[in-house]
Amino acid sequence: MHRVAFFDDLAPRWDELSRTGDSRMLEVLGQVPIVPQARILDLGCGTGRTVRYFLGRLGPAGRVSAVDFSPRMLQILKGSIRDPRLACIQADVGELPESLEGFDLVVLFDLLPHLERPREILIDLSRRLLPGGQMVLAHDVGREELNRVHCEQGGAVRADRLPGDDLLVAWFQDAGLEVEDLQATPSTYLLRGRKSPRPLR
Ligand SMILES: C[S@@+](CC[C@H](N)C(=O)[O-])C[C@H]1O[C@@H](n2cnc3c(N)ncnc32)[C@H](O)[C@@H]1O
Repeated sequence: MHRVAFFDDLAPRWDELSRTGDSRMLEVLGQVPIVPQARILDLGCGTGRTVRYFLGRLGPAGRVSAVDFSPRMLQILKGSIRDPRLACIQADVGELPESLEGFDLVVLFDLLPHLERPREILIDLSRRLLPGGQMVLAHDVGREELNRVHCEQGGAVRADRLPGDDLLVAWFQDAGLEVEDLQATPSTYLLRGRKSPRPLR
């Protein structure tokens, strides 16, 4: 099954399926420093649970750009969250519009294993960060469990895996990000890196 069709099919059940991980999602994202005026790019936003969390942490000047390639995921999100600080964009993370740039925080929550060219995508995303901006790769489930679930789920995601820490850290470094936090527990995952505060020449 094509990937977009797979996630479209999952969309009506996603809120219920993901609910068991919500407390771990809050635990992980709660460790990410966010200023009230931050501009956040939430990739693979699904039906919007992380979007809701970020909007709650932002002040009136903050902004969230929420991206997903599944029309049905975005339809559910738009039906439940109305906020002038939110922009929803239907796009593949591998083919983002150039206009999506200048972010303080780029987040991939429960997304990276689904990407077909993760290293290249992380390099592209890093270019969209402001100097000093942060990239967060996180999961509300541990690596072993995540990889097992994808295997059992089958379909378009059966071969999707979260790579080992060494490779992920190397990709962050290739993208010009300095790793500030890495926590791989049996029930959560967090990798947070920061772009140099000085603009690169
Ligand atoms: C496992 S769900 C996670 C959704 C959300 N981040 C959450 O934690 O509730 C993965 C999401 O990423 C989206 N997705 C997967 N690959 C994508 C891609 N290449 N471009 C854009 N969205 C993608 C899917 O449509 C789906 O909504």
